[in-house]
Amino acid sequence: MKGIRHDSQRGQHMGRVQGKVALVTGGASGIGLSSAILLAKEGAKVVIADFNVDGAKEAAEQIRSQGGEASGIFLDASQEDSIREAVEYTAKQYDTITVLFNNVGLSNLK
Ligand SMILES: NC(=O)c1ccc[n+]([C@@H]2O[C@H](COP(=O)([O-])OP(=O)(O)OC[C@H]3O[C@@H](n4cnc5c(N)ncnc54)[C@H](O)[C@@H]3O)[C@@H](O)[C@H]2O)c1
Repeated sequence: MKGIRHDSQRGQHMGRVQGKVALVTGGASGIGLSSAILLAKEGAKVVIADFNVDGAKEAAEQIRSQGGEASGIFLDASQEDSIREAVEYTAKQYDTITVLFNNVGLSNLK
């Protein structure tokens, strides 16, 4: 996945986020998972943060098995401390955060 630059009109990847570090919330399934996979294919290091930590770890393993770089961690996006931990983990693991996909949508927060 690294350094790939081809014709995007043919559906090939161009390394558009090469070397970036992406934190994707709710990345264990659905839109978040698809986004995490695409970000990795485009060259980003991806942290998949999800309430479903087993799913997050499986998604990261799937990305790594295809040559990408990814980690799966627990996140409860409704809890400030948990968000802080996810951000701190990402910054410590990869030195920075350059892409933040706030994919988890929450309502009725108290
Ligand atoms: N799919 C659609 O058509 C659509 C349309 C409009 C908006 N949305 C919104 O986009 C977001 C993603 O949609 P989706 O269809 O991929 O959903 P999904 O249910 O497939 O995936 C959501 C992911 O977020 C995780 N999650 C849920 N609550 C969490 C929390 N508090 N902390 C951390 N992780 C949590 C789940 O474990 C799951 O992996 C949702 O907020 C949804 O409301 C989706």
